[in-house]
Amino acid sequence: MKVDITKALVDEHRLILRMIALLEKNAPRTAEGNYLNWQFYLDGIDFIRQYADRFHHAKEEDVLFKALVDNGMPKENSPVAAMLMEHDQGRNFVRAMEFAVHEAQAGLTETYQAIADNALGYAALLRDHISKEDEILYPLAERVIPETMRTGILQRYQAAEAAEAQVLPEFGKRFQTIVTQYEQE
Ligand SMILES: [Fe+2]
Ligand SMILES: [Fe+2]
Repeated sequence: MKVDITKALVDEHRLILRMIALLEKNAPRTAEGNYLNWQFYLDGIDFIRQYADRFHHAKEEDVLFKALVDNGMPKENSPVAAMLMEHDQGRNFVRAMEFAVHEAQAGLTETYQAIADNALGYAALLRDHISKEDEILYPLAERVIPETMRTGILQRYQAAEAAEAQVLPEFGKRFQTIVTQYEQE
């Protein structure tokens, strides 16, 4: 039985998808002027930057995708290159969403649509991205990455988790709590 190197990442996708569902629920209401809780968007942006991007995407970019490249996947014009490009596109949506939220906080009502557009753009991008990883790239990684590399990969995930715990204690739990709180809103 091979050591599983993608289960932890699939589990992280589940929490990211819960935040995406919240964006999909709230953004259309913001566009109509019926949901003006800017703190939700600021917490959502913080979740995306810290949990989805710095934590989860860093494990992919620095560990799993590197292992795929070490096992024959080209760096350019490949599924890994496409995934990296999508991580960057996600960062652009988040930057634009943050800018629009700050304008809304300053009293500009015409930015509501921009908040919604960027939130929904991010949600659509990440939903599609996660399904490609869950259904294509991770199964491929499980097929091609040899047993001899697997314990090392898990150790590097653990090192990433330990580094996060240094920055923010109870890292995973903290973000679970934030998502649950907004689900109950
Ligand atoms: Fe990814
Ligand atoms: Fe991912």
